[in-house]
Amino acid sequence: MNKQNIIQMVKKHHKIFNFLTNIYNCLSLKNRLNKKGVKVKIGVSKISGLKIVNRGKNNKIIINDFVRIKNTKIIIRGNNNTINISDFVVLYEGTFYMEDDNNEIFIGEHTSCLGKFEFATIEGTKILIGKNCLFSSLLHFRTGDSHSILNLDGERINPSQDIVIEDHVWVGTKVTCLKGVLVKKNSIVGATTTLCKIYDEENVAIGGVPGKIIKRGVNWDSKRI
Ligand SMILES: CC(C)(COP(=O)(O)OP(=O)(O)OC[C@H]1O[C@@H](n2cnc3c(N)ncnc32)[C@H](O)[C@@H]1OP(=O)(O)O)[C@@H](O)C(=O)NCCC(=O)NCCS
Repeated sequence: MNKQNIIQMVKKHHKIFNFLTNIYNCLSLKNRLNKKGVKVKIGVSKISGLKIVNRGKNNKIIINDFVRIKNTKIIIRGNNNTINISDFVVLYEGTFYMEDDNNEIFIGEHTSCLGKFEFATIEGTKILIGKNCLFSSLLHFRTGDSHSILNLDGERINPSQDIVIEDHVWVGTKVTCLKGVLVKKNSIVGATTTLCKIYDEENVAIGGVPGKIIKRGVNWDSKRI
């Protein structure tokens, strides 16, 4: 039976497969899902070593079908926060932090985060990651600075802002992504880059600290052709 047949069979008998995988995930002593104050919906997915720490109300975690999660922590301090993991996503060794209310983290279909990563949202912001992205290891994404920068009138000048990574973006190792970043589709983020603004062009390579466009008119493939 090929992959496509298996997917069709799971979709056709979704309730049964969902029931069985949920039993498997519950029996796995590696998962510690404190569901108080958080609605957790897990589809037909393999979850091992997921720990949820929730300090708030009305938070939602949706893990769709064919997702693989290993050794990942979700820490929420606040209310009305949402994490939505689409079909076929792979997450290894990650930490999701959400502080304050109304934050959102969305990861699109077939995106893989394959090493240690931290995604942190604060003050009602979003991290939106498209489909078919490939994220390497040792990554830090944060939508805010955690502390205030003030002008000399005492007004804050560093508001938290959303991060958007469009479809089919490859992020190399040891990348830091700060508030307000946009990376457009079919782009590459080079190793050790610090992303810190809107990169408003598709098919580019971005590199350096601070991250700048280092090549235009490029694309990438996870296969070594
Ligand atoms: C960004 C990257 C893909 C570019 O590769 P490339 O297209 O072959 O680029 P080149 O080696 O031709 O370099 C082009 C220019 O960008 C610079 N550059 C390359 N990578 C850079 C990086 N990560 N940060 C800053 N500058 C970089 C080069 O110094 C060169 O500058 P110059 O034109 O002034 O000489 C590659 O260098 C990289 O960082 N790969 C990520 C590897 C990784 O993390 N893999 C994890 C596995 S998922």
